[in-house]
Amino acid sequence: KKIAVFASGSGSNFQAIAVAAQSGILNAEISLLVCDKPGAFAIDRAEMLGIPALVISPKSYPSKAAYEAEILQKLTSLDVEMIVLAGYMRLIGPILLEAYEGKIVNIHPSLLPAFPGKDAIGRALAAGVETTGVTIHYVDEGMDTGPIIASASVKVEAGETRETLQKKIQRIEHSLYPEILEELLNGEEEAVQWEKSVH
Ligand code: GRF
Repeated sequence: KKIAVFASGSGSNFQAIAVAAQSGILNAEISLLVCDKPGAFAIDRAEMLGIPALVISPKSYPSKAAYEAEILQKLTSLDVEMIVLAGYMRLIGPILLEAYEGKIVNIHPSLLPAFPGKDAIGRALAAGVETTGVTIHYVDEGMDTGPIIASASVKVEAGETRETLQKKIQRIEHSLYPEILEELLNGEEEAVQWEKSVH
């Protein structure tokens, strides 16, 4: 099965997914990286991994629909079946949502529905929660609002900083995302119902 990963930044989740696919843990082909930020480190990672990248700036298009239509054309030409968002800092619009209905997933660094949107880790820390985590969910037109597929919780320890918490969360993301993608693509749909706990 062919996947496109969308990323705007560092791309560490993109890399984790690509490595899982290349090593056979994830039975899928990462056909394309779509990156909306020229210069993002995710693009360098794609090059190192030998994965083609579509670097595409929304500013170069008259509308979001035109921007997404260009992406869609590329996805269609590659027979991409699923879109995996990994730090893609943009809402998905109707063009892609309709073409890939039920086939777009996202990972978010909180236990949704708590702390949707930007800086979820910093806001969870500032709110003083004892537990936060990671959520993988289907994507709809909202901001981190689609149906939840899986989550993993992370304890916030005394003296935790944004950096230490982010490190813990990312470590979990890098194993959880490939694992859940494998289930979604190749497992029994019913089997995808679990909760993990990491301390
Ligand atoms: C991840 O923490 C993910 O949960 C959030 O954005 C971050 C992306 O990190 N949506 P990276 O670009 O994969 O390193």
